[in-house]
Amino acid sequence: MNYSRFITAVSAARKASPIRVLTELMQTSPPSLISLAGGAPNPNTFPFKAASISIEDGTRVEIGEDLMKRALQYSASAGIPELLSWLKDLQRSLHNPPTADYRPEEGKMEMCVTTGSQQGLCNVFEMLINPGDTILLDAPSYPGTLAALRPLGCNIISVPSDHHGIIPKGLKEILSRWSPESTRKVNSDLPKFLYTVPNGSNPTGTSLTTDRKKEIYQLARQYDFLLIEDDPYYFLQFSKPWAPTFLSMDIDGRVIRTDSFSKILSSGLRIGFLTGPKPLIDRVILHIQVSTMHTSTFTQLMISQLLQQWGHKGFFDHVDRVIEFYKTQRDVMLTAADKWLKGLADWHAPAAGMFLWLKIKGISDTQHLIMEKALEKQVLLVPGRAFNIDSSEPSSYVRASFSLSSPSQIDQGFQRLAELIKEAI
Ligand SMILES: Cc1ncc(COP(=O)(O)O)c(C=O)c1O
Repeated sequence: MNYSRFITAVSAARKASPIRVLTELMQTSPPSLISLAGGAPNPNTFPFKAASISIEDGTRVEIGEDLMKRALQYSASAGIPELLSWLKDLQRSLHNPPTADYRPEEGKMEMCVTTGSQQGLCNVFEMLINPGDTILLDAPSYPGTLAALRPLGCNIISVPSDHHGIIPKGLKEILSRWSPESTRKVNSDLPKFLYTVPNGSNPTGTSLTTDRKKEIYQLARQYDFLLIEDDPYYFLQFSKPWAPTFLSMDIDGRVIRTDSFSKILSSGLRIGFLTGPKPLIDRVILHIQVSTMHTSTFTQLMISQLLQQWGHKGFFDHVDRVIEFYKTQRDVMLTAADKWLKGLADWHAPAAGMFLWLKIKGISDTQHLIMEKALEKQVLLVPGRAFNIDSSEPSSYVRASFSLSSPSQIDQGFQRLAELIKEAI
């Protein structure tokens, strides 16, 4: 892989901050080292001394005085070492990435902790996109991605998809505008990457099948584009075995994967992680060095202590409990949809995530219905337009989330939506 082809001039110009390098060196040095180098404050002056956090299983995460001093201090931009190493083990055991043992310049698997997967996505987009670049998007799409992409001035091509995700034939057709040989041209205008949410997509709830992933990966090889696998709902797949990921197929080192603990441990602690070829992840880490410097040391330590206590088994036992909750909620929503919306809307049962994507029959644009009429009826959903590349384009869809409402609220909510649709058509 020629990674330099993908990187913007801004990203290529990033250099390691000498102070950050020293800080990181200090943190891995033996206690005998006398350092007069650091510009870090003295944690003995900080007001917080210790914390004890109770966990659902009756145990506690203890952050004693010494650990608290670390938790309140600056830390490495890539993430605290113990969390990074736990996450690397996790990625190896889940995805067995072919690149795990490659040489660094060949695209060896590298990782860093990010402040939610959103930061990882935003930094990756800024690393890759020059104004005028072409990219491929699995649309309708997550608004956080659209909002990060739009100001970068790229040419976004929407890839056709159905309830099994991206349709490889449709992608192939789009790519046929270029010849695979143009990958060798300097300044080729081939798409730089394809972005997709492969499991329980936000907003459509769809999950990409393994066969389609394989076909898409082959197309990425043929036309030499990167794959951005934004997978925050990976741990919310309702049936096992979980689908193989693009990362697990990545023999070239062309997959950048964003993971998130937001849906299973906490969204407010802001812990995500980025996995991809070292030459690209290193660029993101340089960006982190000069922007956030690092994700909060406190939240990283809090999560890391919990994961060390749990081990992989405890972590997956917890994930199973979370899945059980969302699966039950999904079933409640499907029952309510069957009861109230039959004949008024179409939908597919999501196999992961927290969203049901409803196509409202006889209504070409749901914007007015939801933003005005639904509010009057005291029910809130998201109109489909919010997920379109061009948000002024009409959409006959709405997104309903089954994460927060009780079964009776879901039932009543759909009853109100049914009344609304009937009144509107
Ligand atoms: C598809 C998708 N990607 C990324 C994110 C961002 O998640 P995080 O909380 O990890 O930043 C979300 C959040 O809803 C999402 O739905």
